[in-house]
Amino acid sequence: MSEEGKTVCVTGASGFIASWLVKFLLHRGYTVKASVRDPNDPKKTDHLTSLDGAKERLHLFKASLLEEGSFDAVVDGCEGVFHTASPCYLEVKDPQKMLIAKEKYALCLDDDTKMHITRGVALNTF
Ligand SMILES: NC(=O)c1ccc[n+]([C@@H]2O[C@H](COP(=O)([O-])OP(=O)(O)OC[C@H]3O[C@@H](n4cnc5c(N)ncnc54)[C@H](OP(=O)(O)O)[C@@H]3O)[C@@H](O)[C@H]2O)c1
Repeated sequence: MSEEGKTVCVTGASGFIASWLVKFLLHRGYTVKASVRDPNDPKKTDHLTSLDGAKERLHLFKASLLEEGSFDAVVDGCEGVFHTASPCYLEVKDPQKMLIAKEKYALCLDDDTKMHITRGVALNTF
């Protein structure tokens, strides 16, 4: 089934789950607005930009949970949001920073609500 013409957002696109989501969504014909913290880091983006359909329908945005409003442009105009961006550390060096990011994760969902997102999937482990 093709979803040509529909635009969805994937946050934390370089991550494990999100990378598979981006691949699947492009394959289905969606246009994907994807957030990463550093769009200029090939280690974080090469596996995404080399996917089939990426040249035509993948748009990378810079966004961080620690920067207020930085997801606004990514979410804008999307009919669905897959929110996977989240600090996911095995070793916590800066617990304060991690807690702030986790808190912002929840606030980001509030922003999504304000932006009239009709469909959303949020992945997190608290
Ligand atoms: N993998 C699993 O089996 C599993 C199971 C259950 C639940 N989950 C939950 O699902 C979510 C995604 O899991 P995952 O395995 O895909 O994790 P992951 O590979 O670590 O991906 C998480 C992504 O979040 C981004 N991120 C981290 N800190 C950020 C920040 N401050 N601002 C913006 N983006 C930030 C990172 O993006 P950059 O690369 O751009 O820095 C990273 O690519 C997590 O919350 C995890 O706890 C995962």
